[in-house]
Amino acid sequence: MPASLEANRLSRTLAQLRRDGVPVLDLTESNPTRAGFAYDASLLAPLGDPRGLAYRPDPLGAVDARRAVSEDFARRGLAVGVERIALTASTSEAYSLLFKLLCDSGDEVLIPQPSYPLFEHLTRLDGVTAVPYRLDYHGRWSVDLSSVEAALSPRTRALLIVNPNNPTGNFVSAVDLEALAALCGSRDIAVISDEVFADYELQPETRVPRGQLTPRTDVLGFTLGGLSKSIGLPQAKLGWIAVSGDSAVCSQTMALLELECDTYLSVSTPVQLAARELLERGAPVREQIQQRTRANLATCASLVRDVPACRLLHAEGGWYGVIQVPSLMPEEELVLSLLVDSQVLTHPGYFFDFAKESFLIVSLLTPEDAFATAVSRVLDRFRMDDYS
Ligand SMILES: Cc1ncc(COP(=O)(O)O)c(C=O)c1O
Repeated sequence: MPASLEANRLSRTLAQLRRDGVPVLDLTESNPTRAGFAYDASLLAPLGDPRGLAYRPDPLGAVDARRAVSEDFARRGLAVGVERIALTASTSEAYSLLFKLLCDSGDEVLIPQPSYPLFEHLTRLDGVTAVPYRLDYHGRWSVDLSSVEAALSPRTRALLIVNPNNPTGNFVSAVDLEALAALCGSRDIAVISDEVFADYELQPETRVPRGQLTPRTDVLGFTLGGLSKSIGLPQAKLGWIAVSGDSAVCSQTMALLELECDTYLSVSTPVQLAARELLERGAPVREQIQQRTRANLATCASLVRDVPACRLLHAEGGWYGVIQVPSLMPEEELVLSLLVDSQVLTHPGYFFDFAKESFLIVSLLTPEDAFATAVSRVLDRFRMDDYS
C-alpha cells in the first residue's frame, strides 16, 4: 500500500478552483465518455439479452465472446485462435492475473519509462517489484536496449511493452521487438504487450515497421486489449488476454489462466453475451476518437511551430501529445501556475517518469475548440517576448 493517501498539490489546487467555480480547461481528460463524443443511446442495448438471466460460468469466457475477440484481432490483421484467448473484466485485472501467474512474491517485472503511472500500483498490489527500463527520444522514441540488459536479474519474470505507449505514443518497432524477444525468450521471461491503444494510429502514413507479438513462437507472449479504449467504453468492463508462443507452453499457460479465472469468475455474463455486438456497434465511437486525436495532434503541431522555445514530440499512436517546454521553473510549479494563472490543467512529465524536465502531457481527447484554446494558453507562457 502507498505510504500516504494524501492528494497531491495539483489535485488539491484543482479541487479548490472547482469549489470556487473557476472554469478550467482540462487537458488531462482521458475518460472518453466525458469528452463529448456521440454515443448511440441504444449502444448498450445488447447488455439486456434475456439469455443473461441464466448463469453458466465458463472460466476463460463464453466461446462466442472469445470468438468475437479473435475476429477483432483479425480486423487488425492478426490471427489469434479462440483457444488462446481469455476474457477479463479490464486490462488492469489482466495485469493482476498475469503477475500472479508468472511471479512469486518479490519477483521482478520490467516496465518502460516513461509510461503509464498505474504500473507502480498494479505491481505493488500483487507483491511484485517493478524495475524500469528506459525509452529514448531521438526524433522518435525507441527502447534503450542497454537499460533492458542492465535491468535483467535472475528474478525477472516478465517484460512489459505498451504498444503504442502511454503517453509517448510510440509503437514498438520490429527491430526493438526482435531484440527484446531474443533477450527474454532465451531466459524464460514472458513479454506482455499492452495494446489497448493499438487502434489509434496518429500518423498512418509514416510507418516504421512494427513489431507484432502474437505471431511469435520464440517467447511466451501476452497481448492485452479491451473495450475501454477500443470502443471508448471503460464502464462495460471487458478486457482480454491473447496468449502466444511455443504451442506446448501456451497450452500449459491457458490451463493456469483458466484456474485463475475460475477462482474469480469476474466477467459478467451480460457483457460476454453482448461482446460481439458491442464490438460492432462501437466502431463509430472509435472512428470519432481517431478523427479527433489526429485533428488535435495536427492543431498542436501547428500551434507549437510558432513558438520556437517549445516542441511537440513525435507521436505515432494513442490519446496523448507530449510538449517539451523550457525549464524556467520545476515542472510541478509550472503545471500549478498554468492551472491557477491560465486556468489550464495539464499533466507534468514527472507523473510518467520522464528522465528529465520539462514536459507537458496533453490529452488529444479534448474537444477541438477547447483543445486549441488551452494549448495556445500554455504556449503563451513561452513566446519569445515573454520569457526573454
Ligand atoms: C496503457 C494502459 N493500459 C491499460 C489501461 C486500463 O485499461 P482498462 O480500463 O481496460 O483497465 C490504460 C488506461 O488508461 C492504459 O493507459
